[in-house]
Amino acid sequence: MRPDELNPNPLPGESDDLSLRPRRLSEFIGQAKLKQNLSVFIEAARGRSEPLDHVLLYGPPGLGKTTLAHIVANEMRTTIHVTSGPAIERPSDLVGILTNLDEGAVLFIDEIHRLSRAVEEYLYPAMEDRKVDIMIGQGPAARSVRMDVPPFTVIGATTRQGLLTGPLRDRFGIITHFAYYDEKALYEIVRRSAGILGYGISDVGAEAIASRSRGTPRIANRLLRRVRDFAQVDGLEAIDAKIVDKAADALEIDPLGLDRVDRTLLAVIIDRHKGGPVGLDTIAAGTGEDATTIEDVYEPYLIQIGMLTRTPRGRCVTSAAYRHLGRPEPADGVLG
Ligand SMILES: Nc1ncnc2c1ncn2[C@@H]1O[C@H](COP(=O)(O)OP(=O)(O)OP(=O)(O)O)[C@@H](O)[C@H]1O
Ligand SMILES: [Mg+2]
Repeated sequence: MRPDELNPNPLPGESDDLSLRPRRLSEFIGQAKLKQNLSVFIEAARGRSEPLDHVLLYGPPGLGKTTLAHIVANEMRTTIHVTSGPAIERPSDLVGILTNLDEGAVLFIDEIHRLSRAVEEYLYPAMEDRKVDIMIGQGPAARSVRMDVPPFTVIGATTRQGLLTGPLRDRFGIITHFAYYDEKALYEIVRRSAGILGYGISDVGAEAIASRSRGTPRIANRLLRRVRDFAQVDGLEAIDAKIVDKAADALEIDPLGLDRVDRTLLAVIIDRHKGGPVGLDTIAAGTGEDATTIEDVYEPYLIQIGMLTRTPRGRCVTSAAYRHLGRPEPADGVLG
């Protein structure tokens, strides 16, 4: 059973998003290698009637980590308990969750890099030996007792693998990295979502949305919904490239899919810091965005498309960024 199906009163827009979420591995578009491997591991585990080995999913926001965790539970025909690193405050919270899991269940821990050390220590024996230690009594009479927990699979999600402690990472048998989606995959996601939303879309319309989606399905779906609003108000029966342009202009999304924050970030480095290198906190102050958001959400894509580089001395923009913003490049030709 999925918790989202139990929610009788989804917020406006929420039900849309949930219905756009693929439920089966076969509906999950793109990430071919990851999907192929996972389907082998799932089939093998099911063949042995064992839970799947623990899975670590890492990659930038909106690429499908939560979606995939639910899909794995579906494909394993098991239940899923959803929680997150910051939500498990004390070891006793974790013990409570573990001892109440169904046999073979998936325990999805979002933002797993934010688990406290104390909780992590309790998670290790649970993941390795299916044992937890519980304390009985208080003060000098207190003693710790080992208890069995049912077989289960941890699926951990994180935007930054580097923040995970070594011992925790080592306890995952399956580590998967999400790459940004190529335009073909995004095109298919847009077509599929438009079909579910029941709105017509031309090939070029879907391509235009795909190319402005920053390699990210969540952004593709969000942009699709906004374009649909424009199309509907203009009385269009189907989304074409022209209405995508109009909506993107109105939303200040440029042809590369960069938004105002992306462009401000690049402009700050170019205009105030001669192209860099400049530290993350200085960029954060200059753009008014918080440093973690810049690091997790904005930078990875700007690096991926070759507009930004990370050096030991700070962030630098590339010639491509100068060209994209229409700024003259420094005369000496040396950047950073
Ligand atoms: N492979 C895919 N095929 C089709 N749609 C997808 C795919 N991956 C993600 N989506 C869509 O993108 C949305 C965002 O995905 P999801 O919430 O799983 O991302 P996430 O990686 O968990 O992000 P975050 O790090 O912010 O938690 C989903 O609601 C789903 O509709
Ligand atoms: Mg998520």
